[in-house]
Amino acid sequence: MKRSGYTNLFVLLMAIIIGDVNGCIFHPHGPMDFAGGTQVVLADYQGSDPTGAPPEVAGAGLVARGEYLARAADCIGCHTTPLGKQFAGGLAFKLPVGTLYSTNITPDKETGIGEWTDNEFVTAMHDGVGRNGTRLYPAFPYSAYTLLTRNDVLAIKAYLFSLKPVHAMPPENDMSFPFNQRYLMRFWNALYNPAQRYQPNIDRAPTWNRGAYLTEALGHCGECHTPRTLLQGLDANKKFEGAMIEGWKAYNMTSDQRSGIGNWSDEQLENYLSTGHAEGRSTAAGPMSLVLNNSLRFLTKDDIRAMAEYLKTVPPLHNQADLAVAQKRVSATPSEARARSPRGPSPNDEDLGLRVFEGACASCHDWDGSGVHSPYADLTGNRTVNDPSGVNMTQVILQGASLQTRQGEMFMPAFGTGYSNTEISAVVNYVTGLFGVSPSTMTPDQVAEQRKKK
Ligand code: HEC
Ligand code: HEC
Ligand code: HEC
Repeated sequence: MKRSGYTNLFVLLMAIIIGDVNGCIFHPHGPMDFAGGTQVVLADYQGSDPTGAPPEVAGAGLVARGEYLARAADCIGCHTTPLGKQFAGGLAFKLPVGTLYSTNITPDKETGIGEWTDNEFVTAMHDGVGRNGTRLYPAFPYSAYTLLTRNDVLAIKAYLFSLKPVHAMPPENDMSFPFNQRYLMRFWNALYNPAQRYQPNIDRAPTWNRGAYLTEALGHCGECHTPRTLLQGLDANKKFEGAMIEGWKAYNMTSDQRSGIGNWSDEQLENYLSTGHAEGRSTAAGPMSLVLNNSLRFLTKDDIRAMAEYLKTVPPLHNQADLAVAQKRVSATPSEARARSPRGPSPNDEDLGLRVFEGACASCHDWDGSGVHSPYADLTGNRTVNDPSGVNMTQVILQGASLQTRQGEMFMPAFGTGYSNTEISAVVNYVTGLFGVSPSTMTPDQVAEQRKKK
């Protein structure tokens, strides 16, 4: 066992002790506790119902409501492999303690959930307990879904049961001891699963409550945007501060002016959440583009607005490493761009970076970063070009990007196979220096590391 294995084991044992005590005395943090005010059970709430499908879909029958909710909860994203059948599972989750595979949630009776009763399904979604009492790993975000009403969970079930059964068995999990002991999740639950339904806050507007339900119960945004504790629970003190996911940075999305989204206009935030692009700010790539493609783009305008209203109220947290985002457009011609070439970590870097940019990037992004064919390729004000770590920049160059929009697919090719680590680090440092506040200092070795993260 590696050293980190012992640390994990120790932490786990502590957790069992604390968890047992804690489970009796305290309740885990609720994700909306930051808002203060009074929370009441849904039945006692006088405002309009923040749960369920929106009015546009509410009259359309159980299955249609379930489809909307399943999309808002992005079930498909984790239960589908890139080339596999929808909802048939088998997607690998590489955790520090082994590999876990998502399950088949089509109504196949043998390999899926076709035989599950309503109560069994609800227990999985609310308590993280599967059929026959199997404890489920929190890679399945039931600590978010626990907030869903029973009606909404059953609408999702009705939708899943309306799909064609797919006969497909996910691969066996490969988890190291003691993490292959599912009963241990009981203690994790005591610490991190609030295990209660959404409670509206009577001191906030009904639209805020709707936004909270969409963000916390359905969207489980914190699963990527909130850093984790040693025990892999979401750190309540760092809500939405930003965290790493599959080699990408899920950026700070607190209301902080500099590190977060505090100075985005309402329109920018709503556009980003519904289309993946906010003019003068950002275009979603990597895991966030999948959230857009599978989930957010299907939400109604009012739901997007409610979500943005809620996000803006999350208290600001500041990341020391973040610099302010440069919002102005830079030099417009190749010669000007050349003249203000930033200094990379080595003298050759700058030249190489410029050459790679000229050959591989300028045709779409232009020399002033304004984007040639589409506003989606505008890099002005983009966090990724301003992030001095260069992490997402490296990933987007390695993997490319793709967003489904009303105008069709917005596409950037992957350069991971055609370009060496030296070329990629050079262009990363060049582009952050050219369009951002401060150049990154990515090295070829770090690019090699980034390649392994997917
Ligand atoms: C972030 C990834 C993720 C998302 C999103 C997600 N799941 Fe899962 N789900 C998993 C993983 C991983 C497992 C396997 C857990 C385990 O084996 O302990 C799982 C297990 C399950 C199970 C238990 C199945 C069984 O055979 O034991 C059900 C039911 C389920 N998910 C339903 C859903 C539904 C419905 C949604 C959307 C509302 C959803 N999941 C969204 C990752 C996810
Ligand atoms: C699977 C992980 C994942 C989930 C779930 C997720 N995000 Fe993200 N998010 C990311 C990543 C990664 C980025 C950075 C994307 C990039 O580089 O373009 C990001 C970027 C963002 C940004 C842009 C921040 C900036 O400064 O450019 C916003 C806003 C955002 N996410 C909101 C949300 C909301 C709201 C939800 C829930 C509905 C959500 N995210 C769920 C991974 C995720
Ligand atoms: C064929 C056109 C095309 C080429 C070539 C291209 N891009 Fe892009 N790029 C796009 C489009 C379109 C987007 C927005 C798509 C998205 O983010 O989903 C984008 C997005 C980006 C982003 C924003 C990612 C984020 O996380 O916010 C960066 C940075 C970027 N490109 C840098 C580069 C660099 C550096 C190169 C050259 C190595 C390059 N691009 C080559 C079209 C292109």
